[in-house]
Amino acid sequence: MLKFTIYSSSYFLKNFNIFLIILFLSPVNLEAENWFRSSGNYEAHLYSLETQINEANIKDLEKAFSFNTGHVIEALGIQSAPIFTGDKLIINAIENISALDPRSGDLIWQYDIGSINDMNNPWVYFTVNRGILFNENSSKLYRATNFGVLELDVNSGKLLNIFKDVDSSLAPIIFQNNLYVASVDQGVIAFDLTTKEKVWHTSFLKGGFPGRVWSGFSFDPESKILFAITGSSGGVKGIGRQDPNMQTSLIALDADTGEILWSFQHIDHDVWDLDLLGNPIIVDLTIENETIRSVIALSKTGDILLLDVETGKPVHDKSYKLVSVPESDIPGEKLAKYQKKFFKPQPFWKTEVDLVNDFSHLDAENKEYVENKIRHAKSGFFIPPSINYDTVLYGIHGGAEWFGGAIDFTSENPSLVVPYNRDPWIIRAYHTDKISILIDRFVKRYQKYFKQSNSDKIKAAWVPWDHAEIETMELSEKIYSYVPFTPKDKSYKSYCASCHGLSRRGFFEYEGEGDLLYPPLVGSTLGKKKDFVMNFNKVKSLHESVNIPYKITKQKHAEIFEYFDKYDKFLQKNYLLSSRGFWQVLLDKDRNPATKPPWGGLSKIDLVTGKIIWDIPFGKRRDDKNNIIADGDRVFGGIMNTASGLTFATGNPDGYIYAFNADGKKIWEDLLPFAGSAPPISYSFQGCQYVVFTSTGGRYYDFKQNGDLISTYKLESCN
Ligand code: HEC
Repeated sequence: MLKFTIYSSSYFLKNFNIFLIILFLSPVNLEAENWFRSSGNYEAHLYSLETQINEANIKDLEKAFSFNTGHVIEALGIQSAPIFTGDKLIINAIENISALDPRSGDLIWQYDIGSINDMNNPWVYFTVNRGILFNENSSKLYRATNFGVLELDVNSGKLLNIFKDVDSSLAPIIFQNNLYVASVDQGVIAFDLTTKEKVWHTSFLKGGFPGRVWSGFSFDPESKILFAITGSSGGVKGIGRQDPNMQTSLIALDADTGEILWSFQHIDHDVWDLDLLGNPIIVDLTIENETIRSVIALSKTGDILLLDVETGKPVHDKSYKLVSVPESDIPGEKLAKYQKKFFKPQPFWKTEVDLVNDFSHLDAENKEYVENKIRHAKSGFFIPPSINYDTVLYGIHGGAEWFGGAIDFTSENPSLVVPYNRDPWIIRAYHTDKISILIDRFVKRYQKYFKQSNSDKIKAAWVPWDHAEIETMELSEKIYSYVPFTPKDKSYKSYCASCHGLSRRGFFEYEGEGDLLYPPLVGSTLGKKKDFVMNFNKVKSLHESVNIPYKITKQKHAEIFEYFDKYDKFLQKNYLLSSRGFWQVLLDKDRNPATKPPWGGLSKIDLVTGKIIWDIPFGKRRDDKNNIIADGDRVFGGIMNTASGLTFATGNPDGYIYAFNADGKKIWEDLLPFAGSAPPISYSFQGCQYVVFTSTGGRYYDFKQNGDLISTYKLESCN
């Protein structure tokens, strides 16, 4: 049997006597509540039963020990919270796993995941991993990789087995004799722990593309139901994706058979990259004298799905209504006619940007700069990507992020604390020229003949605009210039192609780098942007507003765009146009999110009444000189609640870590050298409570350095 907080914590609080009986009957040493999975327990409460550290004594918190994992990866922090096995603190880094003495922090063993690469194993590449699991019954650890789940002996750190042919970034789950793995593209797979054979495999492939499980996987030991959340295929183009499918859904599976019991789709045909996020949270709620076992999934939109575990139906009446939404004007893109607008629980954030009021804080110069950027923009409830306008929205980096929310069982009703982002994004769809795409493919295919191959596998795994990519692009452009019909206008070549590209493909920085944009100009004379692009004065002053001299005359401008007009019509007539889309952060002149701060928040929601109890800015945004610019910044770390009513929090780019009381008041802070990258955890060992922070930096434009430092705290008086 699983000894893994199978009684929910609310149960513990309300039935203390029963808890004591369990305590004495249980063979487990419950001196401390253990944290066997990075999510805390299988129900993903991120809630510690420890109470030694409380509001009264938190001022006496001091560093207990710190630990360096030994590997720093540029633009990637450790996204897995550690676990506590009862006598070891396990740090799950990207490239290695370390077992530490929970009191001294001394290293007991370290397993190098790269050591797996040999003739018998496929290559493991190092990318994001979001959790590890300890099975107390067998004293084994389970950690997923891109090609299988590693089984390690917890005492020696020796690799015992690999459950192969499954690609996962999440902590597995064990129940009875099965190991459950949620894979990025394969759905959920159950293995027999003894034979290592697959017991069942439930795919989430439907409608041509799989629902991708990259962020959340939980288990309810009471109902024996596994819960996975999915995202979309990524990207902002849905052509070819059939409906119905299993994307952007909360899916319930029978742990015995793998049968899908129900699934709830949050967004139909998501082309906004608004995934569900975080491990689904399972909690008992008493509503009008009836106890409903409920499962929560959070969204980048700020919506909270709160569903009955058994039926998959919303726990609250009138939880959402269907609202009719605009159609796409991109040929071939068939979007849903309706989307769900949620009311209960009250959403903690939204996607709609008010294109006037949300920018009213900017000074005149900055306002003009931002207004130029959003010159083609629309915003609103599920406004689809379009060739004719740009879509501005909140949510691409959350709303909620992958680390999800934490339950507070100390409040009157169980409540949910959620950290979330409130920064704006812009989605741009644009025409592409199939001739240039063909050349790109050719160059990519034969790139090894053109240049040195990139041996830096680690980098290539997640940086789309790495150096190799730019080299490839430059080469494609060169070949393109030899193709007949391509823009051969001399002035365009001399004055424009250096930014907009000879093939007019443009250039954009991705979210890790910033917001630089040279707009693609393919097909720019065909849609509603035509009036703007053909207007010399507007285009000239647009360039000058970003300090780019516009070096051609009105006459030349007209000639170039007449030529483009002809060429675009030629491409269109010959079916040589296609479309793509991308998103970018929407920043102001000073590289801050362009909308009104706070840019990150922390919200507490009563799950029974469905109402927001409080909502505060999360941390502060600081500039390079450490001056505070605004309250509330983007957050990519996470939180944990404790039974003493505290919320520990980390994740802003500035590296500050915080504790809040149950009313949302900040009661403690400290500064770490790197940004928070995973939720904190807590454990107690030999009479002292410890809080562990994984703050190893982020991967986006506003994050600075990455590190490998794990920091633990305890009370000064406790030794
Ligand atoms: C140094 C780089 C650079 C050069 C050179 C350059 N541009 Fe631009 N162009 C930009 C930037 C930056 C923008 C505005 C980006 C934004 O929307 O924030 C822009 C915007 C435009 C737009 C508006 C597109 C739209 O969809 O609204 C047009 C049209 C354009 N450029 C045409 C030209 C032409 C023609 C030339 C040559 C005479 C040229 N550009 C030279 C950087 C450049």
